[in-house]
Amino acid sequence: MAKDFDQMEDSNRCGNPSIHQVSDPARRQVIAGGLGLAAAGLFAPLAGCASLGGGPKLGFKPIAASAADSLVVPEGYVAQVLAPWGEPIGVAGAAMPTMKEDASSTAAEQALQMGMHHDGVHYYPIDGAQRGLLVMNHEYTDDGLLHKDGMTPWTAEKVKKAQAAHGISVIEVENQGGRWQMVRPSKYARRITANTPFNLGGPAAGHALMKTAADPTGQRVLGTFNNCASGKTPWGTYLSGEENFHNYFVTSDKPDAHQKRWGLSAKSRFRWAEHDPRFDARINPNEPNRFGWVVEVDPTDPQSVPVKRTALGRAAHEGAWVAVTRDGRAVVYSGEDARFEYIYKFVSRDRIAPGGAKANRELLDHGTLYVARFDADGSGHWMALVHGQGPLTATNGFANQGEVLIKARQASDALGATKMDRPEWLAIDQDKREVYCTLTNNSARGASGRPGVDAANPRANNKMGHIIRWREGGDFDSLQMRWDHLVLAGDPANPRSEDRGNIKGDIFACPDGLMLDARGVLWIQTDASATEMNAGIFKNIGNNQMLACDPLTGEIRRFLTGPINCEITGATMAPDGKTLFVNIQHPGENPGGLNDPAKPSRYSKWPMGGRPRSATVAIRKIDGGLVGT
Ligand code: FEO
Ligand code: CA
Ligand code: CA
Ligand code: CA
Repeated sequence: MAKDFDQMEDSNRCGNPSIHQVSDPARRQVIAGGLGLAAAGLFAPLAGCASLGGGPKLGFKPIAASAADSLVVPEGYVAQVLAPWGEPIGVAGAAMPTMKEDASSTAAEQALQMGMHHDGVHYYPIDGAQRGLLVMNHEYTDDGLLHKDGMTPWTAEKVKKAQAAHGISVIEVENQGGRWQMVRPSKYARRITANTPFNLGGPAAGHALMKTAADPTGQRVLGTFNNCASGKTPWGTYLSGEENFHNYFVTSDKPDAHQKRWGLSAKSRFRWAEHDPRFDARINPNEPNRFGWVVEVDPTDPQSVPVKRTALGRAAHEGAWVAVTRDGRAVVYSGEDARFEYIYKFVSRDRIAPGGAKANRELLDHGTLYVARFDADGSGHWMALVHGQGPLTATNGFANQGEVLIKARQASDALGATKMDRPEWLAIDQDKREVYCTLTNNSARGASGRPGVDAANPRANNKMGHIIRWREGGDFDSLQMRWDHLVLAGDPANPRSEDRGNIKGDIFACPDGLMLDARGVLWIQTDASATEMNAGIFKNIGNNQMLACDPLTGEIRRFLTGPINCEITGATMAPDGKTLFVNIQHPGENPGGLNDPAKPSRYSKWPMGGRPRSATVAIRKIDGGLVGT
């Protein structure tokens, strides 16, 4: 099937040649489908729109795969550990409890320290690239590592500590002659945890399905958790996705259809319900409906109440990323990291107003949510999740728009959206109207009773993952797009043909984090599971890593490898392009379960030589140059 963009207008915002100007029929790629999609395919002719630096995008010498318990960066680069789990963040007027190596810190102390399992992160300048805020997610906890004696006994205090180790951190950081330091105390420093009050905004706020005994208004929720990726809005706020929230709730052994569709069961991975009835859906049946949202935080105002934006739909949101239409409306992309779930975009009704966060307080409360369908001919379609349209009627179980949003999965099922291989991060090329999305893996694809392969998700038992990309039609609010695959991951030498990818350059598996920097480099971070790594499935690929891709040529170079059993997730660049902040999550994860509290550093001693700790690292070029050159 041929895929080209001839029918589409090009925004040509940065003065680069449009696709019409540079493409000719002889150069158009003909795609054979699935594995035949070329990395340097349809999108290749367009030049970049870099605002930083010129010359080749990838200038560093790639590093080898590694199985070492260390963080490795290319020759000429240096990495510095900043803000590990347990480090006090310096909340103004509060204590600065230091991390206790034996993990005996209390819940109250943890609420003043960096949380566990760092994930999405963004830099908000205060003084350009010299001083700013780092705002980041703490996805979840390893309770074998978090508590001195692990989960035995499992107590109310431990639940409180785990809840305090979740959520979001705002920290102030400063570049002192090339070394980054936390600024403490800081008037901005803030922890948002699983118990911080949030407001609900948008059509599902106040909905009957959102009301609980503790909140009869359905307008105010305690906390956020399982926050994975994050996006920075043009108006200066931070968007964070509440991912697989179902892991925190229990319900009866006979979940109703709605609970079932959202993965609730009688057993939960995190045993909070045993000491906090809020997480027992038998007692509080609507509490799970209050999670799975994109949350918005104004990091510059520590007093501000964060808001759950229900207009963006409920999902196991990995994160949320913002593009802007030509007339200034916000388009928020999001996927849900779950097998056979969906990719969404929300288009705001109103334009982004000048005046920052305060001027855009309700921007994300009004607009239209769409879900994606990727067709085999390379076309893509955005289908509106609007009550009363098509099957989204009261007869079909959607009483109003609030219910469509709370049951966005069921609504997307009804619309026939494409069931994806765990959509994780997205990255947006604003100038080219292109969007990239990692599909990390899906070992259930094609399994008995599960959906088989499709053009967008072309591999059965997809262990390696891939990256899809699309270009929107006339503008980001277009209902049509064209898509192809940037790359299918996996070692070409893998004995199982389905696991061989088409990587042009250094091999990797399970793409997860993504960031498109100002020079146009697409940074890819990986999350191959420790269990599967141990099973040898990713032989030759080594520890999880971060790679740089030139999307114009498809070339991929390995830039960083992490310590043993970590995940690399979350990246943000200082505005001068000379510091790259990266989060290293769960070094020393125990394959298949929690760490053993008696031997907490059996797999990794990164970064301090003892109990492994997730941490942010600041990476700079020794000669002070742009990162990636
Ligand atoms: Fe929490 Fe999808 O990673
Ligand atoms: Ca992820
Ligand atoms: Ca992942
Ligand atoms: Ca992880």
